[in-house]
Amino acid sequence: MIQIKNLYKSFGEGDKKIVVLEDFHAQFERGKITSIIGGSGSGKSTILKLLIGAYKADAGQILIDGEDITQMDNEGLNEVRKKFGIMFQSGALFNSLTVEENVALPLREHTDLNDSTIRIMVKMKLEMVGLRGAEHLKPAQLSGGMIKRIALARAIALDPKIVFYDEPSAGLDPISIGVIDKLIIGLSRKMWITSIVVTHEIPSAMRISDKIIMLFKGKIIANGSPEELQKSTDPRVVQFIQGDPDGPIPFSKSQVDYGEELKEMKF
Ligand SMILES: Nc1ncnc2c1ncn2[C@@H]1O[C@H](COP(=O)(O)OP(=O)(O)OP(=O)(O)O)[C@@H](O)[C@H]1O
Ligand SMILES: [Mg+2]
Repeated sequence: MIQIKNLYKSFGEGDKKIVVLEDFHAQFERGKITSIIGGSGSGKSTILKLLIGAYKADAGQILIDGEDITQMDNEGLNEVRKKFGIMFQSGALFNSLTVEENVALPLREHTDLNDSTIRIMVKMKLEMVGLRGAEHLKPAQLSGGMIKRIALARAIALDPKIVFYDEPSAGLDPISIGVIDKLIIGLSRKMWITSIVVTHEIPSAMRISDKIIMLFKGKIIANGSPEELQKSTDPRVVQFIQGDPDGPIPFSKSQVDYGEELKEMKF
């Protein structure tokens, strides 16, 4: 469904140039949940932004249903984006709009459906995230977990084939994380949605993922099922999964040497 080939992305020029992704390859399968994990600054959000066409790659290909989006103009990208749902990190709801209006936004923007049809579709999406009845509330009246669920309802408003999640459970209590996990799994299993989840929550990634990709300095150091990652002997993977402050992954981003070649680990 989505294939990334030989992708390069850097920021800045000359001395200030940082290479974020170097010869990056990945594949995201239809109907499966793939999580991308890795330390701060490892390039997770950059991948998400390249996938939605918000950043331009320096080189390489991003094939979505066989079409290379790196070669597309804005018009082409807008067409491809209709296949996407994006759940933004902060929820990114509009504070002045009600829950109903927030979830209806993509429908109003991208379809010609009439008001009553839109209202019914919004109700169905709210039902799916367990928040039927919250239509008339404003974001300020919602808890953090509810905001994430509304953001999820909006992400799936157009019945997308692909949903990108940026830290869907950051800042939530364990029960709310469990609720979001269950919703992501449900969407993937019942609606055959291809899910790409950027997350810091290791237990959550272990629960929901068919595949986990771990990044370190813009390179893949682990790529496999949750079980395979748990069995990994790579000290960087072990440290990250166990959340150990001491180990090969530096605490501060500024210590990262992007020039260093890394041996890729294969399962
Ligand atoms: N627009 C930009 N301009 C310049 N540098 C950028 C830009 N976006 C990202 N970077 C740099 O690219 C590197 C990777 O950033 P990215 O946001 O992808 O990391 P991340 O893995 O998402 O980290 P976090 O877990 O902290 O969100 C960082 O060093 C960052 O400073
Ligand atoms: Mg990020």
